[in-house]
Amino acid sequence: SAPAFTVAIDGPAAAGKGTIARAVARHFGFAHLDTGLLYRAVGALTLDGADPVTAARALDPRALEDARLRTANVAQAASRVAVIPEVRAALLEFQRGFARRPGGAVLDGRDICTVISPGAEAQFFVTASPDVRADRRWRELRDKGDTRTLGEVLDDVIARDARDSQRDAAPMRPAEGSMVLDTSEMSIDAAVAAAIAHVEARGGVPLR
Ligand code: CDP
Ligand code: CDP
Repeated sequence: SAPAFTVAIDGPAAAGKGTIARAVARHFGFAHLDTGLLYRAVGALTLDGADPVTAARALDPRALEDARLRTANVAQAASRVAVIPEVRAALLEFQRGFARRPGGAVLDGRDICTVISPGAEAQFFVTASPDVRADRRWRELRDKGDTRTLGEVLDDVIARDARDSQRDAAPMRPAEGSMVLDTSEMSIDAAVAAAIAHVEARGGVPLR
């Protein structure tokens, strides 16, 4: 069967991880997992009153397709459950299995290079300044009808970054040996081209 090849992408909120991950997956014919959706799904269930550890242990991957996971409230709930070691442990095997699936995989999140797939063939830390990231997220939310102000979105992003990087369990940080891509002044096309070039340099081969 086709060999495994893992592309691991970490970084803070709205840095462009998902955009790069989807484009790399398409280019190489790899499968893509947005691991933030796992934490968002657990966070959404806790907003409905569920216990986070129980919810994480029983999580059905089909729950990841729910469009309601993209809201700002769910993002905050996700980062609150993400500090709980038992929640992270419950989600670990699914992510590791996905990373090593035959034919290649791209995973994006906060701890992919550091915890989920430290042996990933290509590793990235995608980042941008908080102002740029807040502006990007604010535009996305506005286009979905959210009335939050840019200042409120910036506060949310900063609070989530702090919680994600200061927690004891799998804190967000650039892994040693990962390529740091600061997309503050980069177009999507330029960021994607840089990522594809790095994956190719690390031995990734397009399927078609
Ligand atoms: O996955 P993550 O939260 O890191 O970010 P994303 O969903 O890929 O990107 C957040 C928003 O920023 C999207 O609307 C992208 O189109 C936009 N973006 C951008 O304007 N310039 C980039 N270089 C990357 C993303
Ligand atoms: O799209 P955005 O970057 O704003 O967020 P996300 O990737 O959907 O992640 C939502 C939250 O889940 C993050 O703020 C983290 O607290 C948590 N998360 C995590 O702890 N580990 C991951 N591998 C992915 C997400």
